[in-house]
Formats: sequence, structure tokens, C-alpha cells
Amino acid sequence: MKETVNKNITLALSKGRIFEDTLPLLEEAGIKVSESPEKSRKLIIQTSDPNLRILILRASDVPTYVQYGAADLGIAGKDVLIEHSAQQPGGLYQPIDLNIARCRLAVAVRKDFNYKDVVKQGSRLRVATKYIQSTREHFAAKGVHIDLIKLYGSMELAPLVGLADAIVDVVSTGDTLKANGLVAVEDIMPISSRLVVNQASLKNRGVFLQPLLDAFSRATNLHE
Ligand code: ATP
Ligand code: PRP
Repeated sequence: MKETVNKNITLALSKGRIFEDTLPLLEEAGIKVSESPEKSRKLIIQTSDPNLRILILRASDVPTYVQYGAADLGIAGKDVLIEHSAQQPGGLYQPIDLNIARCRLAVAVRKDFNYKDVVKQGSRLRVATKYIQSTREHFAAKGVHIDLIKLYGSMELAPLVGLADAIVDVVSTGDTLKANGLVAVEDIMPISSRLVVNQASLKNRGVFLQPLLDAFSRATNLHE
């Protein structure tokens, strides 16, 4: 009996900036997405390509769906990928930096907090973040001892109410820090979003995935 080949491709995205920034890349590949996840509230969205569907997930869940093969490929920020691979290493191939959702990971403190002196004196620093792995690595490399407090969002609040001396968060325009009386005192790394591909999908169904990977590559170069 002839084996049927599964040509269907599932792409995992998060709604908001990654979904919005991916639409033009898909359009370059001739693929239109008719529904907005914000409006329809659907979690599975079809596209003009009958073989391509999109899953709408929390940003930090995208690598998990791709790693376990529930999605063939996905788009996630470098910040999210570093945290994910520290928890659940392996199974993900990262072929393309799409250069979308660009920001930077930075250390920020209250305007009146003397970060340099505290670090120079070798005092312990209380740091609140959702980026545990990147934060640990950053301060370990500097030889600064920290107490880490894990948060899931609204990090800017922590130094204002005495929960932490510093935060590690992504910064783009700097408006959120400014609005909360905080300043960035150290850049940790530039961040952008990358395409991640399930290694087994690439191995077994690479012929169907490759045209989409090539289209993402071309579109990224065009947008640079
Ligand atoms: P989750 O919903 O899982 O908590 P999140 O709220 O960080 O994650 P988004 O706000 O959609 O998810 O951000 C997606 C990605 O976009 C982040 O992982 C980061 O790489 C990047 N990003 C976050 N904030 C900004 C920003 N202000 N400007 C540009 N890029 C950003
Ligand atoms: C992100 C991040 C900062 C803000 C930085 O929040 O957590 O708070 O962007 O951007 P800015 O430097 O341009 O102000 P986001 O807007 O994604 O809100 P969320 O974390 O609640 O999703």
C-alpha cells in the first residue's frame, strides 16, 4: 500500500508583536492570513496556503510546542529561547534570525539607586526577573552575587516597592522604564526573534518545510 505523506505544516506564533511582524514575512512568501487572533480569538488560524496553519500561543510556550513536534516550526525571541533551552534542552534547530521584535535585555534600577557603588562594594544584589538563566549568567560572568526573585511580568514595579534592587527586562524605546522612574544601567544582549524548527520535522519532511524556510530567509534579507 502506498504510504501517504503528510504535507501539512504547523507554525507556532504568539499574538501581538510577533504575529504582527510575521505577517509581512508571510506575505513576501505569497501567504495571506485572513483572521486576526485578537479579533477572532481562535487559537488555530488557517492561511491562504491549504497546507499551512498557525497556532496562537503564549510567547514562552512557542519553543515547547515546536520541541515536542506539536508545531513544525515557530517564532520566538532570543530571550525566550535562552530560558527554554536551560529548562528543556535539545530538539530545536534555529536556522534564521528574522530580525523582528528587536529590543535588548538590560539591567535597570531606580534613578536614585547607586548601582555602580553597590556592585563595587561587593554587596549582594536582589534582582527580580522572568529571565532567570540570562540573569544568572550575566552576573556570574561579572562575579556579582545576587539573590534572584522570579517574576512573570510587570518587572518595573519590583524596585519601586522594595521587592528588588534591580530588574532584568527587555527594553525597546525605554518609555516603560522612564514612566516608572527607572534607568538602564547595563545592557546584557541585543534580542530579536528567531525561527525555530523541530529537528525531526526537518529530517522527515524537510522537502515540504524547505520552501517556507527559504521564503523566510529571502523576506528577512529584503526587510533588513
Ligand atoms: P509571555 O506572554 O509568554 O509572558 P511576553 O509578554 O514577553 O511573553 P510578547 O510581549 O508578545 O510576549 O513579546 C514577544 C517577544 O518580543 C519577547 O520574547 C521579546 O523577544 C520581544 N519583545 C518584548 N517586548 C518588546 C518590546 N517592547 N519591543 C520589541 N520587542 C519586544
Ligand atoms: C515589554 C517589556 C517592557 C516593555 C519595554 O512589555 O516587558 O515592559 O515592553 O518596552 P519599551 O522600552 O518600549 O517601553 P510589553 O509591552 O510586551 O508588555 P507585556 O510584558 O505585559 O506583554
